[in-house]
Amino acid sequence: MALTFTRRSLVVIVAALLLQLFVLAGLAPAAAGQTGKVTVFWGRNKDEGTLREACDTGMYTMVVMSFLNVYGSHGEYRLDLAGHPVGRIGGDVKHCQRKGVLVSLAIGGPGPSGAYSLQTNQSALDLFDHLWNTYLAGGSSRKDAVAAARPFGDAVLDGVDFFLDHATPAERYDVLAMELAKRSNTIGKPPLHLTATTRCAFPDPRAARALATGAFERVHVRFYGEDDGDNNCTMYWEDAWDRWTAAYPRSRIYFGLPAAAQDGRSGYVYPKTLYYRYVPELQKAANYGGFMIWDRYSDKQSGYSSYVKNWA
Ligand SMILES: *[C@@H]1O[C@H](CO)[C@@H](O)[C@H](O)[C@H]1NC(C)=O
Ligand SMILES: *[C@@H]1O[C@H](CO)[C@@H](O)[C@H](O)[C@H]1NC(C)=O
Repeated sequence: MALTFTRRSLVVIVAALLLQLFVLAGLAPAAAGQTGKVTVFWGRNKDEGTLREACDTGMYTMVVMSFLNVYGSHGEYRLDLAGHPVGRIGGDVKHCQRKGVLVSLAIGGPGPSGAYSLQTNQSALDLFDHLWNTYLAGGSSRKDAVAAARPFGDAVLDGVDFFLDHATPAERYDVLAMELAKRSNTIGKPPLHLTATTRCAFPDPRAARALATGAFERVHVRFYGEDDGDNNCTMYWEDAWDRWTAAYPRSRIYFGLPAAAQDGRSGYVYPKTLYYRYVPELQKAANYGGFMIWDRYSDKQSGYSSYVKNWA
């Protein structure tokens, strides 16, 4: 009798403890703390140095090449790397990957509106084919003929970034995202790193449809620049950060910053302010991912990432 009673009390106590644990976990998800992850954009200025040099600094865990900024209805695809000689990039990509730095390619960008769009499912599927065969695993083993169409030869990029400055909610970036995710899951290699780089104000209607697929591993939110007139996003960054982190709990959210104070662009944060004011707030989120730095050229001048790297 006594034994049964004791057992039953134990069960009750353990159950109560477990319940409390679950409740606590539910109320206060564990803070992410530091991740050490820093992403940088490369390819906007020839004077920033090579991709290899960017990776050799040891400051970055991912480099996003930018941009593939012509695609869609024209049946034309164009990569714009601001005059960097394309011939040596394939070797640099492999060099970066050997050092553990991921290299991906951004589509879209701030360029002229009308240069890119995905109005139909078919244009999304066509862009998928282009990305797959030209930069990803498709065709990378078929040397000679196909290699000619691959600017980086048999180097295979690690991911694709959606940087949709000119897009309407109707465009089919969701179809592209799902196709990339599907293909990524069916090959035996490490999965593709699908990322999006959005404006700061939540939600960003240009990217919302793609993000709703749930296929994105990371979202880099640009806490600088264009948004400020309308919604004051960089001033009320905590509010925006909370919305982004809450909206996409399955994605890692990166805080995007300019590497230097520049011409009328808002959002520059002094390193000291970043450390004392921003870092503790950002790292409270369970899905804090790290920092995104815009861009390699500015960072090379300012050395901003040498601070960010330590605190990320
Ligand atoms: C486009 O693709 C989506 C998602 O696969 C599908 O639901 C939709 O019916 C397609 N639209 C057309 C016009 O084929
Ligand atoms: C942001 O909002 C604050 C408070 O409403 C206001 O004082 C400030 O002028 C706004 N800034 C911009 C750029 O709109």
